[in-house]
Parts: sequence; C-alpha cells; structure tokens
Amino acid sequence: MAKKLWGGRFKKELAQNAKDYSYSLQVDQLLFPYDIAIGCAHVRMLAKVKIIRRAEALTIERGLKKVLSDFYGKDLGVFATQYEDIHSFIQVQLEKRIGAVAKKLHTARSRNDLVITATKLYLKDALEIMDGAIIALQKALHRCAEKYQTVALPGFTHLQHAQPVLFAHHLLAYVEMLERDRARCRDAYGRLDEMPLGSGAISGTTLPIDRAFVARQLGFSRLAQNSMDAVSDRDSILEVVSACSIVMMHLSRLSEDVVLWNSAEFGFIELSDEYATGSSLMPQKKNPDMFELCRGRTGSVYGNFIAVLTLMKGLPLAYNRDMQEDKKPLFEALHTTLSSLDV
Ligand code: ARG
Repeated sequence: MAKKLWGGRFKKELAQNAKDYSYSLQVDQLLFPYDIAIGCAHVRMLAKVKIIRRAEALTIERGLKKVLSDFYGKDLGVFATQYEDIHSFIQVQLEKRIGAVAKKLHTARSRNDLVITATKLYLKDALEIMDGAIIALQKALHRCAEKYQTVALPGFTHLQHAQPVLFAHHLLAYVEMLERDRARCRDAYGRLDEMPLGSGAISGTTLPIDRAFVARQLGFSRLAQNSMDAVSDRDSILEVVSACSIVMMHLSRLSEDVVLWNSAEFGFIELSDEYATGSSLMPQKKNPDMFELCRGRTGSVYGNFIAVLTLMKGLPLAYNRDMQEDKKPLFEALHTTLSSLDV
C-alpha cells in the first residue's frame, strides 16, 4: 500500500477511480515553494519550543530544501496519479531523502491549516505581482496619453456623439479605474495577511507551539484568532477573485473601446501588427483579436468567482473537502487577469 499521511486503520487502498476523482497535485503543485517554506519555519519553531531536537529540525529543513531544489520549476503533473496532493508529495519525498525523522514535520500540524496557510502566502505574492502589472498598464496608458496630447475625438454617451473630448482624457479614465483596482487588492491583502497555521485540523493543538515565531518567519502580520474560522475561511480567495473580476471588467471596457476605434466605421486608431491578426480571404481586415479575447476571458473570470462563491455556499464548519475545489478557479482567475494586463 502506497505511503500516505492518513489511513492507519485502513486495510484497502482507495479505489483507482476514487483516486482519479480526488487527487489534486495537478492543480495544487503551484503551492510547492510555499508549502516548503512553511515546513522550514514550522520545524524551526518545533525545535525552539523543544518539541523536537535541534538536529532533527536541521535534518528536516535540509531535506525540505533538497526536495525544493530537486523539483523546483518542474511540472509535478507527472506525479499526479501517485500523490494525493502537494502536501503528501512533499511529505513522501522528504521521507525518501531523510527517512523516518521526516514524520516529525507533521507534528502539531494538519493539512487543513497547512493548505490555507500555503494559499495565503501564494495570494500575498500574487497580489504583489498584480499590483506591478496594473502599474505597468497605467504607465502604458499614460505614455499613450502624453504622446497624443492634442488629439481630440468624439466623447460618447449612449454610443452617440456627445461632446468633443481629448483622447488622453478617455485613456486616463482607465488609469483611475485601475487605481481603484490597486486599492481593492491592497485592502484584500491587509485582510488576508493573518496566519492560520496552528489551527490544526479544527481546534488547534495541545502542544506548546509558538505561532508568533512562525508568523514572523513567514512574513504574516497577524495570527488568525479562531481555529475553526481559520481552517475553513475562503473569503480571502473570494476577495482576490472578485478583485480580478473587476479588473477584467475594466479591461473588457477598454477592449471594447479599442475594438470600436479600430473598426473601419470609427477609424480612430490602427493597431500595431504585433497585436492584430489578418485574414487571407479579406486582406482589408486588421482584427483586434487580443482585445476580443480579453473581453471574452472576462466571462471566464466571472465564472471562476461564481465557482468559489457557490462552492462555499452553505458549507458547515469547519473544513470540508469541497474546499479543495477553490484552487483551480483561483489560479485560473489570476493567470487570466495577469496575462490580460500584460497583453
Ligand atoms: N488536498 C486538500 C485540500 O486542498 C488538503 C486538505 C486535506 N484535508 C482533509 N481533511 N482531507 O483541501
């Protein structure tokens, strides 16, 4: 029987189709470096409070760093049928490298507090990357506004000519929207910046752990106060996917403006070759595909938001396996939003 974290009382293995149905390594492998960082901070703490020996902590930390360097940047999807999730993958790989002492890593810890702690570290990084991507787009809009400072175009209401406005005026409207998006991300960051670890599976641990020590090492500003809330709270994810949805809504409006401006009827702009496509049959066309895709993918990100919102609806406290389904929509929403901002 394959090694796994649980199942002391189980005689038979999980059925193959049940494994296929429930294993999540293919998706949650993105948490790999965060899970390793948590492991290192956790064993340092276990040694500090003398739950394990310093030498054991060192061995485990070195082992974790070896696992990281052995697999960093590689697609762990090739192991997707063998390991239940990223946490089990790391645990087993660690045991292969350092033997039985690896089991002590899981002292005073559960995957329930681990998975949300890793996700929050991931979210904190993602929000910082998103902030940079939003600023880059704001700068691009600024440069364009500066370059065409004197260009006027019709301002529209009801898509009817209203009053003449400057092209720069129109572009800078999007800079404002994006600034509010940045503020939303900062707000979300501030709220999610608290560490769930120490909550265990549901009700903490009786071991004398030092959560503040772990939080400092991982860069969390606060400790989650209620363990039942901490292991089953996913509204931090919802806030981030909601912020992504609003960014995409703004980008879809910008995209629609570009699609209109680029049409023969409007004829306000011509897209550069690098961001337009043509047609073999109709050589007069210069299609704004990137902007259409961005407009279309906005729908997918809304879908990601609704998926997480709906999977949380009516879930009893505390952790439920349903929650594993939060990661795919989260990762997709962030990927779509970041690549859309970039293009
Ligand atoms: N793969 C699980 C998830 O992402 C980890 C937590 C598992 N906990 C459990 N009680 N089965 O949610």
